[in-house]
Amino acid sequence: MNEAAEEVAPPEVHYYSDIGEVPWDIQNYWYQRHRIFSKYEEGIWLTDEAWFGVTPEPIANKIAEHIASSVPENKVVLIDAFAGAGGNSIAFAKSGRWKRVYAIEKDPAVLACAKHNAKIYGVQSKITWFEGDCFAILKKQLKDLGPYSVIFASPPWGVLYLPRTSDLKQLARLVDNGEKIHVKHYCMEGSSKALCAYYGDFKTSTWD
Ligand SMILES: C[S@@+](CC[C@H](N)C(=O)[O-])C[C@H]1O[C@@H](n2cnc3c(N)ncnc32)[C@H](O)[C@@H]1O
Repeated sequence: MNEAAEEVAPPEVHYYSDIGEVPWDIQNYWYQRHRIFSKYEEGIWLTDEAWFGVTPEPIANKIAEHIASSVPENKVVLIDAFAGAGGNSIAFAKSGRWKRVYAIEKDPAVLACAKHNAKIYGVQSKITWFEGDCFAILKKQLKDLGPYSVIFASPPWGVLYLPRTSDLKQLARLVDNGEKIHVKHYCMEGSSKALCAYYGDFKTSTWD
């Protein structure tokens, strides 16, 4: 038995193996569970709330690929400021582009999911976990990493990784006069699932 399989989940965390166990508002997500995490059957953990925010694996992989291929070489650290159940952190760690991935999550049960899920994907040793408020942690523990890091944020209220219905004019208001940013839709089976706004020095010519 592997290490992740032996772990005991906190009470807020579930692994649903049968539709009969799944709360009604999560059922649509549960039907897509293998697209959300291809290794779901290996015992992926999620809290009931985390289902709504987790980035599906193909999209997380694509975002990881886009960031890896477009950032300046001196950026060697990736900080996932709102790590959730680990969808993006795992993809960043798998990309192999980063010396280290730092993942911050304020909810201890959700953080337990992210750590457990990273073990299932075999990338736990590449990620340093922080439990707490990302704004405080970025200002204190991680403050010296600024010049070497890229910060990825998929907060619950949506700033960088955003709902597909986001208002582009609102995003544009966050850009200095004359500057340009890249805004990209990430789609699964022909429909947009998310939108990412890339603020900063990204070379986007290689993106597909
Ligand atoms: C949309 S989810 C992130 C999902 C994640 N990208 C994934 O794929 O699993 C947002 C997460 O941010 C966490 N969060 C909210 N405010 C936070 C804060 N100030 N510091 C750290 N985490 C925070 C929430 O608990 C939630 O788990």
